[in-house]
Amino acid sequence: MYKILHIEQLVPSIHLFKVEAPEVAKKAQAGQFVVVRLDETGERIPLTFADWDAKEGTVTIIFMEVGTTTHRLARMKAGDYIADFVGPLGVPTHVEKFGTVLCVAGGVGVAPVVPIARALKQSGNKVITIMGARSKNLLFWEDRLRDASDKMIVTTDDGSYGRKALVTEPLKELLEGAEKIDRIIAIGPSIMMKFCAATSKPFGVKTIVSLNPIMVDGTGMCGCCRVAVGGVTKFACVEGPDFDGHQVDWNLLAARQRTYTAEEKQSLEQWRCQCGEQK
Ligand SMILES: Cc1cc2nc3c(=O)[nH]c(=O)nc-3n(C[C@H](O)[C@H](O)[C@H](O)COP(=O)(O)OP(=O)(O)OC[C@H]3O[C@@H](n4cnc5c(N)ncnc54)[C@H](O)[C@@H]3O)c2cc1C
Ligand code: FES
Repeated sequence: MYKILHIEQLVPSIHLFKVEAPEVAKKAQAGQFVVVRLDETGERIPLTFADWDAKEGTVTIIFMEVGTTTHRLARMKAGDYIADFVGPLGVPTHVEKFGTVLCVAGGVGVAPVVPIARALKQSGNKVITIMGARSKNLLFWEDRLRDASDKMIVTTDDGSYGRKALVTEPLKELLEGAEKIDRIIAIGPSIMMKFCAATSKPFGVKTIVSLNPIMVDGTGMCGCCRVAVGGVTKFACVEGPDFDGHQVDWNLLAARQRTYTAEEKQSLEQWRCQCGEQK
């Protein structure tokens, strides 16, 4: 059992949990994830490391409420216990001295980008970050990402804060600019990662994305997380979640992500009825 030590609601639907998990914290690396199961009958959901402290024995996760399990998780309290917290899983993000790295973080994607940007900076890279959200009230961890960056640009879709733009606009401008960009790391909703990869492709700058297919076991045995990259089938849980965005079959990923939409909707409605919440 894994004790929830600290909880913060960062923005209306995004929560931070600090969890006591010393064995996981000891081995955690940027870009990896845990598979969480709330109780004996719960489904298993993957969540990326937002932070960890090996000395303290804690791991920080940040999650967005989208369906039944994340809604149930959001209603847990500090002092409650999570049944399973399995990790670190997945291949850590490849970090070396590339030169200038552009990190693009969209929505809840800011959480995994912070430790990656920090590791890139520690390895001697110049780190430029673009952080985007739909609106000002959905932005979080701006200070942490700024600390991990040499330069940062903030965008909102509605112009309520920073520059009114999608993240792909400053991305394209930076690629067209005088400064050589050696690598791009884009993490956020699939649609954002798809368009970041489409934007950078004509410039030939390697663009790493962190894919979020549906996962079950997280250990390469169930096959649920399969994605096509460069025409080859990969299991995102053991060969990813990071892949070359120019090689990903985005349409197949989107189709597979929609596999259980009807069941997910029904499950959330049923859970809301059971616990007396309004639909
Ligand atoms: C490697 C990885 C890391 C992730 N890290 C984060 C993170 O740090 N923060 C965060 O908010 N979200 C993260 N996600 C997405 C998160 O796992 C899903 O939002 C969560 O599983 C939804 O569960 P649910 O029951 O609340 O919603 P559901 O109603 O079950 O599903 C809602 C959406 O989540 C997707 N989803 C459902 N079950 C899974 C599953 N088992 N695995 C993956 N996707 C699923 C569905 O395709 C659907 O689009 C990550 C996904 C992956 C693959
Ligand atoms: S989640 Fe089962 S093989 Fe990847």
